[in-house]
Amino acid sequence: MEIPAGLGRVLVIIPTYNERDNIAGIVGRVRASAPAADVLVVDDNSPDGTGELADELAAADERVKVLHRTAKDGLGAAYIAGFGWAAEQGYDVMVEMDADGSHQPEELPRLLEALQDADLVIGARYVPGGKVVNWPKRREVLSRGANTYARMMLGVPLHDVTAGYRAFRAATLEKIGLGEVNSRGYIFQIDLALRALRQGLKVVEVPITFVERTQGVSKMDGDVIGEAMLRVTQWGMSERARRLRGGR
Ligand code: GDD
Ligand code: MN
Repeated sequence: MEIPAGLGRVLVIIPTYNERDNIAGIVGRVRASAPAADVLVVDDNSPDGTGELADELAAADERVKVLHRTAKDGLGAAYIAGFGWAAEQGYDVMVEMDADGSHQPEELPRLLEALQDADLVIGARYVPGGKVVNWPKRREVLSRGANTYARMMLGVPLHDVTAGYRAFRAATLEKIGLGEVNSRGYIFQIDLALRALRQGLKVVEVPITFVERTQGVSKMDGDVIGEAMLRVTQWGMSERARRLRGGR
């Protein structure tokens, strides 16, 4: 599929930590489903050799690039580094995608189509037509609970505010001001969606099918969940306090 007219140069950013069994497959699928897009792997010095594998992919394909970071520093920090690199290189669209196959590259053309008329497109599970395949019940309850809590506390009009499959216009990231974002872990996703909405930008949810990984393990842990709960609660409280003081 061709990248829709007017979008410009597209970079698909894939953060990795110990994804050696997934990285070649996912990069190949992105290259097949959006041949005009470039790919940037952002690896946090994975002990399993994912970074070296990514270097091999880059050596074989000039559209594949690798950003090596020195240590595991969270999903949000990896994306901020990737976005910064993309801005320097003059990309017009930045895509977020997991390495483990949960975000299907075959659905990328639909996200990009929607971006023609939006500032940020979120590939959403919890909208009509969206699905989750092979998640343990416990994990789905956690994810849906996080979304309900965030919607309640923050008043966001989105159904999948934690989703990690997204397409941003470069101008959207500029307006959001990544320099002020200090969310390290998965809370980064909520943080960015919230900032985009506050800027009055057009955020559109497109249904996707999220497929649980078959190789490797999730990096979601108690710290990640704790950071998210704490932040959402703090943001919700300060928003309420602001409204009570009569601010808008
Ligand atoms: N570079 C780097 N550094 N990559 C990381 C780090 C890190 O510290 N932590 C996670 N990743 C990478 C993983 O290697 C994977 O490619 C991607 O980020 C997502 O990590 P998973 O561990 O597979 O996430 P998940 O399946 O539990 O969570 C999914 O759902 C969340 C909640 O809806 C993802 O789609 C998240 O993006 C989403 O927020
Ligand atoms: Mn995953």
